[in-house]
Amino acid sequence: MSMITETLNGATRHRSASDPRYSDNSINTSSWNPAQLHRFRREIEGPPREVRSDLRQSTDQFVTQLAQQALQHRAVRHPYLQALADGSLPNIRWALTDFAHHYYGYSAHFPRYLTTLISRLENPAHWRALLENLTEESGVYAEDELRELSEIGVERAWIEGAPHPQLFQRFASALGVDSTANKEAVQVTCWRELFLQLLANGSPAEAIGALGFGTENIVRTLYGYFVKALDSLGDLAPCDTVFFKLHTAVDDHHQASLRAIAVDFASTNEGRADLRRGMLKALMLRSIFWDWMYERAIQPELTEEIF
Ligand SMILES: [Fe+2]
Repeated sequence: MSMITETLNGATRHRSASDPRYSDNSINTSSWNPAQLHRFRREIEGPPREVRSDLRQSTDQFVTQLAQQALQHRAVRHPYLQALADGSLPNIRWALTDFAHHYYGYSAHFPRYLTTLISRLENPAHWRALLENLTEESGVYAEDELRELSEIGVERAWIEGAPHPQLFQRFASALGVDSTANKEAVQVTCWRELFLQLLANGSPAEAIGALGFGTENIVRTLYGYFVKALDSLGDLAPCDTVFFKLHTAVDDHHQASLRAIAVDFASTNEGRADLRRGMLKALMLRSIFWDWMYERAIQPELTEEIF
């Protein structure tokens, strides 16, 4: 029997030259029922494209690619962040002071984000990894972590025993802001509440995507912009701005824990889709917050009118 090899939509198939189903003269699909047509199409096209791509991509490759995608998002490359770092805002000190005032309402609740995520997970190994992150949030570090931090100029006396919200308040105070004294802006409340809802009500994989890829994964890059902007002021003590330098170091470690958990969720198509969706939701929320901060920073005189 002679065989014909042909390619259609990227799929290669072999058929008998005499197969009547594929003879140009014999196909009369008008008489086929929908199920027959569907089978015929699947036979020609092969498996759906997304299944083919999943088979090609390992779990490890998938999470690596997802982490890279997050870093390309507007939330991480926002013009507000770039303007802070390159000093092109009308008044950098005013912008950083405004940031110190508003970011606290999101950042100070980080332990709640972690505990909410932990409550969604069933695997004790996953709890253990995240509980370590939670311990550090409260200002307790392992000796080897403290040694590594001192190597990059973060002294243990600055951070030991100081919960991270307290470190942020130290930074805010240095700029003359009492971050707990003023009424919180509704934009900050919305960000925090929507983020908590995502962690509490999304699937566990979505929650990992949000706090892992969409948050811890981007912190090092994000806070790098702030470190640069704070350095440009030239009059803040390193101890007062340690919140940022500390997070560029420890959050790499936290991201590694979350990445390992994500790998366990990335073995199915559904898990992968949820990881990506959670990541994007977290990034979109952050991007909206930066939009608001940016509008304020470029027009400080109009802040009362910027919603
Ligand atoms: Fe923290």
